[in-house]
Amino acid sequence: PVPIVLDCDPGHDDALALLLAHADPAVDLRAVTVVHGNQTVDKCLRNALAVCTLAGITDVPVARGADAPLTRPLRLAPDIHGETGLDGPELPEPVLDPAPGHAVDLLARTLRDSDEPVTVVATGALTNVALLLRAEPALRERMAGVVWMGGSTGRGNITPYAEANAANDPEAAQEVLDSGVPFTMVGLDTTHQALVTRDVVDRLEAMGTTVARTCAGLMTFFADTYREAFGMPDPPLHDPVAVARVLDPTLVPTVRAHLVVETEGRWTAGATVVDLDGYTGRAPNADVAQGLDRDRFLDRLLAAVASYR
Ligand code: BDR
Ligand code: CA
Repeated sequence: PVPIVLDCDPGHDDALALLLAHADPAVDLRAVTVVHGNQTVDKCLRNALAVCTLAGITDVPVARGADAPLTRPLRLAPDIHGETGLDGPELPEPVLDPAPGHAVDLLARTLRDSDEPVTVVATGALTNVALLLRAEPALRERMAGVVWMGGSTGRGNITPYAEANAANDPEAAQEVLDSGVPFTMVGLDTTHQALVTRDVVDRLEAMGTTVARTCAGLMTFFADTYREAFGMPDPPLHDPVAVARVLDPTLVPTVRAHLVVETEGRWTAGATVVDLDGYTGRAPNADVAQGLDRDRFLDRLLAAVASYR
């Protein structure tokens, strides 16, 4: 299995990404690190620990990371994820303690202790990853790559041209790109193919386990806020798509392209500028997701959820 760390801000779709990453035999989830985003880092940390408690995940360290972007003000998403960051069904009181120290320390330890390079799957702003690369640039060599749910090859979801994880810390995203670490962007245009239609919720409910019932409740809340905020009939399950790319690259095909993150634009900060047509003549620096095999993705995700008893 591919060793991974999940850097996340749970978050409804982050919660499912975590369940997928722990259950699927193609990856070995070595650590979970938490970043500001959908809610404050403290609420997201609590949510990560609650999801682990729900699923009986006791062997994966979970650490608190950055509480704010590198330079910009903190922006949260209570309109999408609620006041707790994981509103909807009741979650258990976390029985686990966070790992000691900062998420950057846990990331560094995990990379250093691994006998093979580790893939960082990031499903929030890239603040923690940028801080790690600032603190210990040599650890770049210990990373197989960063696979990030963020950005878009087209329009945004927080401003007309910026996706939330990119807009929340564009400087961090650009720093990670500039480090030269192999970078995969799984953007909105692809994750919007991972729609949680009613039949998906029905399949979850039919499983009859507490974990599956909780997932169904999370998806129902997510559907309601997505309908309210975006007028979309079904919500997209963004973050598990980044995990899926590592489980089986054929689930999420990519193309090589030059990618920069807008850090100066007055109206476009956080826009991910993906040169799919080679206009700039700049050498490709990223693998950019271009589609999803939705049926196989959902089967894999639902099998992961069903494996929790
Ligand atoms: C991203 O923003 C967050 O709300 C989700 O968890 C996902 O990571 C989608 O833009
Ligand atoms: Ca997220």
